[in-house]
Amino acid sequence: MASNGTNGAAHQLKNLDSVKNKALLHYAGYINGEWIEKAHSGKTFDVVDPATLEKLATVPEMDKRETAEAVQAAHDAFKSFKKTTARERARMMRKWYDLNMENVDDLALILCLENGKTLTEAKGEVAYSASFLEWFAGEAERVSGQTIPPGNPAVRIMTMKQPIGVAACLAPWNFPIAMITRKCGAALAAGCTTVWKPAGETPLSAIAQAVLATQAGFPKGSINLITTLNTVSEVGEELCTNKLVKKLSFTGSTRVGKILMKQCASSVKKLSLELGGNSPLIIFDDAKISNAINATIAAKFRNAGQTCVSANRVFVQSGIYDKYSEALVEAIKKQKVGLGTEEGVTVGPLTHERAVDKAMTHINDAKKGGAKVILGGEPMKEKPGYFLQPTILSGMSKNSINWSEETFAPVVALYKFETEDEVLELANDADVGLGSYVITEDIGRMYRISEGLEVGMVGVNSGILSAAESPFGGVKESGFGREGGREGIEEYVFTKSVVINIAG
Ligand code: SIN
Repeated sequence: MASNGTNGAAHQLKNLDSVKNKALLHYAGYINGEWIEKAHSGKTFDVVDPATLEKLATVPEMDKRETAEAVQAAHDAFKSFKKTTARERARMMRKWYDLNMENVDDLALILCLENGKTLTEAKGEVAYSASFLEWFAGEAERVSGQTIPPGNPAVRIMTMKQPIGVAACLAPWNFPIAMITRKCGAALAAGCTTVWKPAGETPLSAIAQAVLATQAGFPKGSINLITTLNTVSEVGEELCTNKLVKKLSFTGSTRVGKILMKQCASSVKKLSLELGGNSPLIIFDDAKISNAINATIAAKFRNAGQTCVSANRVFVQSGIYDKYSEALVEAIKKQKVGLGTEEGVTVGPLTHERAVDKAMTHINDAKKGGAKVILGGEPMKEKPGYFLQPTILSGMSKNSINWSEETFAPVVALYKFETEDEVLELANDADVGLGSYVITEDIGRMYRISEGLEVGMVGVNSGILSAAESPFGGVKESGFGREGGREGIEEYVFTKSVVINIAG
């Protein structure tokens, strides 16, 4: 046993050597059924554990050349893959799901090490990620066209749904495998071939998924994976401008989403964009305190506050403000910060050093604007990684940076409000509209607020919005398109109308 030096407790340090199924570990991209360990440029980059800052692995830094090769391989594979039956694809999806379940512990460990999230959360992400495979295994066979009553008796009209072609899937570092299966699972189930671009910070879990998908039977060229960190804009541009790519799905910031959208215009590519949010969490005087606290912990501390649906502005009605704040301080004091692999830890590190700096800028700005730090408020310099104390800011105002920008960290920003109309206007005062939460015991209010919020998703008395069967996505500058749900697979097919003259 070694001491991790983070809290004095003895702790077995884990690294990739602890992964039991070594077949999951490749330090390479994957193109046309081959693992590519050396990039054309000869360049590499390191994958680092954000909790310890130790190097985990070195992978090739691919550029637009490998990207074009991956797209070509996917394009070639599409010619036969599009002819597979929905049932054949459903079986491969199901097998991929089963393989995920057989490898939960290893997948979770890889995820925990490269992203920093706790092992418990990582296991949750593996289950969440696999649930998309199970869901789209079912949906594969439910994609169908219609027969349409014609206006002209001499014709018959039908529609068929067909896979759109090569799909490029750009996944973020905060959910490195769930976003791969949510996008690529839907694409493959629909009969599209794929190019995966995991984030440079977290390629290893996506690589492990490519191993399992291949074992599940997806043929050569249907899955291609590009590893990139410093060349990411060049890789992104190739995916956007390459005419053989017919669909691009991206999860990430609104800033990058706008760049990709412009680049995709050159080939009028079909797009799904799941971009930044600024989720309001609204707690009314009639709320059950336990619901309010549980929802806050779930919506703010999942993945250490680094989700696009993290509660960014917490609006608390004046009658419950003090009671809620006191209960929240007590609940958050119980959170244990540390290495994700350590027993009992509930909050891991942030994934980037710049994330701690950004959170500190928001905290200092809030203090200048008159807010009070009622818990935390400092980086945890005694730990080697990117750790921040769980923080509560009380008495926030509209002039803060947090008002218009996601803090993306375990920082709860409390705003006081008086009336329902007022809070609806405040909550909607954002360029983006992704997630939101409302805590109330009043059924009428629950409807009024759910209908009035300008967002893609609402959690009522719940801090969790995500489920494979529930469509995920936003409005305004949070993007468009839906992932998961019945809509998720529709993003990867197009409708063809067939008009048949039966007059002879
Ligand atoms: C995200 O943060 O991008 C996705 C979160 C989720 O699926 O719950």
